[in-house]
Amino acid sequence: MQVRLLYVSSAVGPQTTTVTGSILKTARAFNKAQDITGVLCQGQGLFLQVLEGQRSAVNRLYARILADQRHKDVELLAYEEISARRFGAWAMAHVQLSSLDPMIQMKHPEFDPYTASGNLVMKELADLVAAGQILDELPQE
Ligand SMILES: Cc1cc2nc3c(=O)[nH]c(=O)nc-3n(C[C@H](O)[C@H](O)[C@H](O)COP(=O)(O)O)c2cc1C
Repeated sequence: MQVRLLYVSSAVGPQTTTVTGSILKTARAFNKAQDITGVLCQGQGLFLQVLEGQRSAVNRLYARILADQRHKDVELLAYEEISARRFGAWAMAHVQLSSLDPMIQMKHPEFDPYTASGNLVMKELADLVAAGQILDELPQE
């Protein structure tokens, strides 16, 4: 059984390219091995992440991510059983929020992932990925 999980969290310390690069490097190797796919959206001190895959694999990874000291205030926004993946092409796609934020603000002036509905946040992420905002990963073959 496959699930999709979405959470928001707040970075501890600055979101430098070194920190993000190191997270993505671990994530891509581990997720590929575990058949987990998804997207990590990052910027303005926030992380938004979608994880998709077998339920037990996703749950185990989420537990590890919860314990990670590089972020705090991890809040689960959505968790659902799925029959098809939305981000199946990426072990972990990367989207930078800062440059895109004006677009989000324009569309939804009230957009705050901590209070917005999980469905809305998921839709925003899917829109960003569909709009080709992925920064630095080619889809897997
Ligand atoms: C925002 C954020 C997202 C992360 N996403 C993933 C991920 O998708 N896959 C992964 O293996 N690790 C991810 N990590 C790293 C894990 O939290 C953890 O450091 C890594 O799995 C290594 O675990 P270990 O320190 O127990 O060996 C993420 C960390 C943060 C802060």
